[in-house]
Amino acid sequence: PRHYRVVALPGEGIGPEVVESALTVLQHLAQQHGFSVQIDRGLIGQPALVKQGSYFSEVTAQLCQGADGILFGAVTQGGLLELRKRFDFFANLRPIRPSPSLLQASPLKPERLQDVDILIVRELTSGLYFGPCGRSIEVDGSYGYHTMRYTDNEIRRIAKVALQKAADRRHHLTIAHKENALPCLPWTRLVQEVAPSFAHVTVESMLVDNLAMQLVMNPQRFDVILAGNLFGDILSDIGGALVGSIGLLGSASLNADGFGLYEAVHGTASDLAGRGVANPLGTIAAVELMLQQWGETSAADRLRQVQEQLLAAGYRTLDLSPQPGDQIVATQELVELFLQAL
Ligand code: IPM
Ligand code: MN
Repeated sequence: PRHYRVVALPGEGIGPEVVESALTVLQHLAQQHGFSVQIDRGLIGQPALVKQGSYFSEVTAQLCQGADGILFGAVTQGGLLELRKRFDFFANLRPIRPSPSLLQASPLKPERLQDVDILIVRELTSGLYFGPCGRSIEVDGSYGYHTMRYTDNEIRRIAKVALQKAADRRHHLTIAHKENALPCLPWTRLVQEVAPSFAHVTVESMLVDNLAMQLVMNPQRFDVILAGNLFGDILSDIGGALVGSIGLLGSASLNADGFGLYEAVHGTASDLAGRGVANPLGTIAAVELMLQQWGETSAADRLRQVQEQLLAAGYRTLDLSPQPGDQIVATQELVELFLQAL
């Protein structure tokens, strides 16, 4: 029998609520699809600081070592970047696929969202988030700096991931860059260097500011979007607007061995925390990506089907702009509906 070990790192804010919800769904699914999951819970963020003396402790790192996946909730800032760096989770995959039942939840016209199916491939362990930085003082006052630094090899390796994804999808790749202002980071040239191994993929290069506009004006034109760490972060929130709520998006962050960190794209949502109203679908979408990575495709497909069925029936958490006639549901109610439908 197939057996998997998952490390759950709930973190802060709505993290614990959405992670427990997704785990309940995962365990139910496992039973039905003939595999089993052992869940080890660990600390990250504020609770880790209190109990273990740091946002991302060696205890948590050791717990994650050798697992089949990490399911992460949310933190305000501490611990997440260290976790991503520790296991070299450089390839962040963020699918953007509006649900046919939620087209009215997006500010875009429904016809603009029809059949939108985008994958953002975001570099996650380098760039502006990890370059040399500091604060100091000079004669004209104090100053701070962060450095957007990429080795050519870091760009080539994330490019290969994006090209492979495009080869498996609709054969189109758009590179997000800012070469008119940042010419020392030649993303286009470096991607073109590795692109010939992916013969059927057409590669297009786009300034990230224009890309942000195109994503809103004409999202149907995109297949895979490749972006560095900061640009990918910003573009994925536009993805949240396209699907109607950032609360729906899940992401997978993989290293070269295929080991992965799975998390919702949203943050701690402290305004919603503890009220039992958070949307668990982002974390459930992350579980779907984990199942796909394990090769548990029928279980992954089932999750997606049930989600569509519940949204089509009008069940909505508060973030999904409920309309008259929709049924507003709390986190726990949505989980129960999920279990029934499974
Ligand atoms: C995300 C988040 C994180 C990021 C924050 C919490 C550091 O916004 O995963 O998109 O910027 O990567
Ligand atoms: Mn973000």
